[in-house]
Amino acid sequence: LERPGLSLRIRTLERGDIAAVLAIQRACPEVAQWSAADYESVARGEMAGWIADERSRAAGFLIARHLVQEMEILNLAVRPDCRRRGVGTRLLRAVLSSGEAARARQVTLEVRASNRAGLAFYERHKFRLAGRRRAYYRDPIDDALLLALDLKPAPRAG
Ligand SMILES: CC(C)(COP(=O)(O)OP(=O)(O)OC[C@H]1O[C@@H](n2cnc3c(N)ncnc32)[C@H](O)[C@@H]1OP(=O)(O)O)[C@@H](O)C(=O)NCCC(=O)NCCS
Repeated sequence: LERPGLSLRIRTLERGDIAAVLAIQRACPEVAQWSAADYESVARGEMAGWIADERSRAAGFLIARHLVQEMEILNLAVRPDCRRRGVGTRLLRAVLSSGEAARARQVTLEVRASNRAGLAFYERHKFRLAGRRRAYYRDPIDDALLLALDLKPAPRAG
């Protein structure tokens, strides 16, 4: 199967992206199913959100929140027809740089224990297992694995 490179642009999530984000989310049962109102609060800046555009069509998105010492990834999904072509990696890099710039110490997230693609992706990016919450998810019931990646502190200006 040929895998030509994608021409990707990573940018901040805006209000006009919500319909595309909801469509990607519906195609990804592994992720938290948020409402339009949740993404509106992201677009207002209450959480951090990034879109990966491929030829001006959204190929994936990532939502995170900054908690002083920590950047927590809340949702990450790539359109099924755009997977394994670096979209998730580009979105992850955006959150890592943002976390470093905000002087967070680590990036954390929770993932379903049954999510093999998600786990392989985060392992590839050197996240470590930091904990497990038993039967944390419903429909279907599943453990949550807590993953963490330490950030290198950004050099101090001046
Ligand atoms: C997890 C997810 C975001 C990865 O996005 P992606 O754009 O396909 O990831 P990339 O192309 O950047 O993958 C980078 C590396 O991660 C690993 N990886 C990604 N998907 C994988 C899979 N299905 N199986 C095994 N390894 C995988 C590989 O090492 C891959 O490199 P390679 O393709 O050169 O082998 C995507 O599969 C997805 O949207 N899944 C559904 C939603 C989800 O599970 N989100 C994460 C939980 S919050």
